[in-house]
Amino acid sequence: MIVTTDTLLKEAKKNGYIVGAFNTVNLETTRAILNAAKETRSPVIVQMTEKTFEYAGGRAIFNLVKNMADFYFSDIPISIHLDHGKSLEVVERAIDMGFPSVMYDGSRHAYADNLRVTKQVALLAHAKGVSVQAEIGNVPYLSEVSGNIDWEDYMTDPDQAVRFVEETGIDTLAIAIGNAHGFTKERDEPDYARLSEIASRLSLPLVLHGASDWEDGRAEKVRSLGISCFNVDTAIRLSFIGALSGMLASGEETEIRKVLGSGMLAVQETVMKKMELFGSAGRA
Ligand code: G3H
Ligand code: 13P
Ligand code: ZN
Repeated sequence: MIVTTDTLLKEAKKNGYIVGAFNTVNLETTRAILNAAKETRSPVIVQMTEKTFEYAGGRAIFNLVKNMADFYFSDIPISIHLDHGKSLEVVERAIDMGFPSVMYDGSRHAYADNLRVTKQVALLAHAKGVSVQAEIGNVPYLSEVSGNIDWEDYMTDPDQAVRFVEETGIDTLAIAIGNAHGFTKERDEPDYARLSEIASRLSLPLVLHGASDWEDGRAEKVRSLGISCFNVDTAIRLSFIGALSGMLASGEETEIRKVLGSGMLAVQETVMKKMELFGSAGRA
């Protein structure tokens, strides 16, 4: 059953668990994510980026996820989300396709520009019942940062976050507390005090990007401090590619479904582990 992200995350926030937002790129990763949700009885967000629109065709991949959710997983609450929409145009396209949830990511732009476009996105999306996520501070892609990183340049400023949420009326907020996209070296310790302050001053659900490598107690800690959603992409990529490399190593396998199916199973296992870790298992 398709629901809005807002519905899923308000429920998660109320009950103190995290819902995973898992990036899909094709049939195999979609089915793996949904199988994991069914197996663990977990609410789930299936999300995709503009690059995946280019790869698979926006309408093709959106309708693949929607049809699979409607026909085979109708008893699981599922949201479909545009991850990191970088322009008003792509957000409009996604809303037009039927996405119940979008992110406008203006986090790399000047604050005034991020604020201006996020306001436009929220107006447009809310008129159609679509949930909106935006980002304050910036969760970096460390592969793009040269030299030593000064984490203070990226962190979410709590005062700015409060003003931004009030002025835009967004539904969920992505924050930066020392997290970074990819499995790269992050800040030695996430800024838990900053997270606590933001959570105490805002009532909307908070989202963490770039933390799919957090398994050493950090996920539990941020869950207890007020994070309601974790984005997971790199962990999925590594599982899928790892399984395929193993399968192809002999050079003898020619059955496409076996090769891609091994990736699908590996992703399902990874996603199921995340759902247990996030505490969303058993909540659907
Ligand atoms: O944070 C975003 C994800 O890692 C998606 O990456 O733009 O290559 O689809 P992508
Ligand atoms: P990871 O690179 O940690 O998986 O983060 C994914 C993400 O934030 C997608 O928006
Ligand atoms: Zn992200």
